[in-house]
Amino acid sequence: MSTLLKAAITGIEGYVPDRVLTNKDLEKIIDTTDEWITSRTGIKERRILDDPNLGTSDMAAESIKKLLTKKNLDPLEIDLIICCTITPDLVFPATANIIADKVGAKNAFSYDLAAACSSFIYGVITGSQFIETGKYKKVLICGFDKMSSIINYEDRTTCIIFGDGGGTALLEPVEDDDYIIDSILKSDGSGRAHLHQKAGGSLLPASHHSIDAKLHHVYQEGKSVFKFAVTNMADVSAEIMAKNNLTSDDVSWLVPHQANKRIIDATARRMGVSDEKVMLNIQKYGNTTSGTIPLLLWEYENQLKKGDTIIISAFGGGFTWGSIYLKWAYNS
Ligand code: UT7
Repeated sequence: MSTLLKAAITGIEGYVPDRVLTNKDLEKIIDTTDEWITSRTGIKERRILDDPNLGTSDMAAESIKKLLTKKNLDPLEIDLIICCTITPDLVFPATANIIADKVGAKNAFSYDLAAACSSFIYGVITGSQFIETGKYKKVLICGFDKMSSIINYEDRTTCIIFGDGGGTALLEPVEDDDYIIDSILKSDGSGRAHLHQKAGGSLLPASHHSIDAKLHHVYQEGKSVFKFAVTNMADVSAEIMAKNNLTSDDVSWLVPHQANKRIIDATARRMGVSDEKVMLNIQKYGNTTSGTIPLLLWEYENQLKKGDTIIISAFGGGFTWGSIYLKWAYNS
């Protein structure tokens, strides 16, 4: 049996649209307050892709173009693009196909991966398998969502949470010990009852009824999802630490999915990790679903040092959840 190569994140770039939607703006359109949103979620504002001619692929393509420039790469060198999203441009073809076309990655094959808020960690682990087997050398993992396209801005329980944006990671083989070391990925489809979009799929295609009843938007039973998220994200983070004999002192950074500051705090507490080691930008971007983790890595990139021990954790619709344990591979 041939030995596996080591895969690492060797570059990261994010993108958020310019338009800012603040809690104060939301106060004008729904019955809510800045105080309620801030104290219950930690969110102050979020970004919105308000140009009707732009979709998820446009945000991803922008991030890839910058990443290729930063890494001095030609688009023709890219072997594979995985677009992690639940808001594809079209039902088909895959948004990743569209992205590859927009960035000129003519030698890449490409496909989408949907696991809601866990999409990006699923994508990193899926993409890293192609590196580890030696099959491919340059894999791009895009984590992006245009959540504003599936949010009902009359529903105060969901529209306060979500925003648009994301980021792209480059995966490459590395020789030393700073690489993607371990992961635990889980799913439980019975959780779909609490968080889903009712219409637009094969079960309930678009109809006058589905439009009138606003079934093409996110449906979330917030309190139930909150309970599952707190338990499962904390459990899986503690599990990957135990599995790899890591103590809280060993952990340089926790990179938690940004759904609710209270879920993030509970996860950090369970791991014994202090606040200054917890990446946080929920106040600026809200929950960008597939986009939260690459957005964090992008914003904190210049604080990361080669060899830093990083735990990435996510929980989302499906339910899907999991953790990745990696050593950061470079100084920026
Ligand atoms: O990323 C994917 C996974 N998703 C998540 O992890 C989200 C998990 N859930 C949550 O983050 C929280 O459940 C929410 C932020 C969605 C809601 O916070 P909560 O503390 O669970 O509030 P709640 O749903 O229990 O509602 C409490 C009260 C209710 O009023 P009553 O029944 O107590 O009179 C709501 O009607 O707050 C009311 N409420 C609001 N009030 C002002 C709900 N939304 C709002 C709002 N502004 N936007």
